[in-house]
Amino acid sequence: MKFFLDTADLNEIEEAASWGALAGVTTNPSLYAKIGGKLEDFHAHMKRICEIVGPDCPVSAESVAMTRDEIVRDGLELAEIAPNIVVKIPTMVEGLAATRALADQGVRVNMTLCFSVPQALLAARAGARYISPFIGRFDDISEDGLDQVESIVGAIGNYDFTANTVRGEQIEIIAASVRSANHVTQCALMGADIATVPFGVLKKMVQHPLTDRGLESFMKDWKKVLNA
Ligand code: E4P
Repeated sequence: MKFFLDTADLNEIEEAASWGALAGVTTNPSLYAKIGGKLEDFHAHMKRICEIVGPDCPVSAESVAMTRDEIVRDGLELAEIAPNIVVKIPTMVEGLAATRALADQGVRVNMTLCFSVPQALLAARAGARYISPFIGRFDDISEDGLDQVESIVGAIGNYDFTANTVRGEQIEIIAASVRSANHVTQCALMGADIATVPFGVLKKMVQHPLTDRGLESFMKDWKKVLNA
């Protein structure tokens, strides 16, 4: 499983990248608004994220356009920012059509706001490189988001979509709207390719009380060695 950071915060991205396990970044309009982002700075901000994580790490930048022509135009502009930009497009009719048009022009797309197997299958046929099923938002309405991810991983894995994707790359499923380290565990057991996690969840993933306790006792015992 690869880990993406779900944020537009440059400090969080720099810190997470320094840990050596970051494989990409996903952003969305809400995350950009949360850091006080301004419209005129959006492209420069995405470019900075691409520079921080490096050319091998995909960075999802979301289109806020609503018609297929506008999404395609927006997507082509976003793709110009850096080679590692992935255009993030909502799973809706206009989004599917735009994804097909962008994939045909060599632009990689992450289809987002995906909540069902039929949506994921359509995204795959439309040429999406990444598909992002959301977990937490199901949990928010008392339904099981993990069940949906498991079904989507299984259904997509049943078929070969490489004829549909840019450069014949394999589709990867990004478990999104992740709210806990346990979500990550469950998604890894299901075989989701990627988990995109908020920085708070990434920090929790490193922690374990027995690690802290073990470290404390090792340090205490090492002092005995130093004083022996
Ligand atoms: C995915 O790419 C989205 O940016 C994100 O995971 C949404 O998470 P949320 O439901 O916590 O807002």
